[in-house]
Amino acid sequence: MGARWRGGDAGGAAAATAWWWVAAVVLCHLLSSARAGLLETNPGLAYNFYQKSCPSLDSIVRQVTWAQVASNPALPARLLRLHFHDCFVQTCTALVPFFFVQGCDASILLDNAQSEKTAGPNLSVGGYEVIDAIKTQVEQACPGVVSCADILAMAARDAVSYQFKASLWQVETGRRDGPVSLASNTGTLPSPFAGFNGILQSFANRGLNLTDLVALSGAHTIGVASCSSVTPRLFNGNATQVDPLLSAAYAKTLMSSCPNATAPGTVNLDGGTPFKFDSSYYTNVLNKQGTLASDAALAQNAAAAQMVQDLTNPIKFYAAFSMSMKKMGRVDVLTGTKGEIRKQCRKVGS
Ligand code: HEM
Repeated sequence: MGARWRGGDAGGAAAATAWWWVAAVVLCHLLSSARAGLLETNPGLAYNFYQKSCPSLDSIVRQVTWAQVASNPALPARLLRLHFHDCFVQTCTALVPFFFVQGCDASILLDNAQSEKTAGPNLSVGGYEVIDAIKTQVEQACPGVVSCADILAMAARDAVSYQFKASLWQVETGRRDGPVSLASNTGTLPSPFAGFNGILQSFANRGLNLTDLVALSGAHTIGVASCSSVTPRLFNGNATQVDPLLSAAYAKTLMSSCPNATAPGTVNLDGGTPFKFDSSYYTNVLNKQGTLASDAALAQNAAAAQMVQDLTNPIKFYAAFSMSMKKMGRVDVLTGTKGEIRKQCRKVGS
């Protein structure tokens, strides 16, 4: 077979390859649209999935997470982003859809030379040690029962809930851990430079819609961005060239943290209340104070801009965020007998 692919009929082989890719792309689009509907219904998860098998799970996750957040206020943002980046890995390659489903499956936690965490967009992702700390305690209480994927989803919720001392959203559980982690599968992560259609498409690829995009972007009400994610909006080489979608005053604020095109360091995503999970992100976007180009892009589309306006109301924001987090937490999960339950979240088959 291999000899035939390498042999004289190069034209035939090329045609066969082209056909295969066309079929794969069409299939990918079909799977993406089908997924959009699927996320509205439960993929086999449940509230209190571990009620009998690990009754102390909720309190262990909350206790460990809250203790760590108490001494490190950067953690809610880190854990929320970690969960998001776990869910947004790519399924659309020629073979993968049939053999491995990849979504919220804790694959981002795996350590190996080419794992997801080595991909460019994941280099600034953190919070792994919190998941390890929780997992150690959960394994002591209920060995071999609770997946790392569920612990990650719960820790993201509890890290944000520290501010409110109550959960902002509920987490369905019953996910299992996926064995595949490849940096090359992180291509569907949205780029901050992609523009409105680009980020919308990235969400559509994971079965999420415009409402989800606008609601979940509100996560940028906490946390930081590296200067490299922002400086293309401020400089063109050595010259100052400010993105017209940025207010002059806010551009100045950003430049005080990132003074030139290659500055190291970080800026707060929400210049006003960077540690508060509130709806000020949306006011920022309307006031040309969205930090990333992708934040500013939400005000460039009429339907999105109307939603941004609505979500400046904190009650509406919390409700919308909660609904969309539940949908995001369902993206291509492994349930039943698929995947595995890892004892160590960083190691397959452990
Ligand atoms: C709309 C598409 C999105 C884009 C383009 C995007 C892009 C980014 C970028 C570039 C950063 C800064 C990374 C760095 O420079 O080091 C960031 C940070 C962050 N993102 Fe997003 N993101 C998006 C959606 C989301 C979603 C859906 C969530 C969660 C539900 C999220 C949560 C966060 C958080 C919390 C941070 C701060 C992390 C920290 O402080 O450690 N983002 N995002």
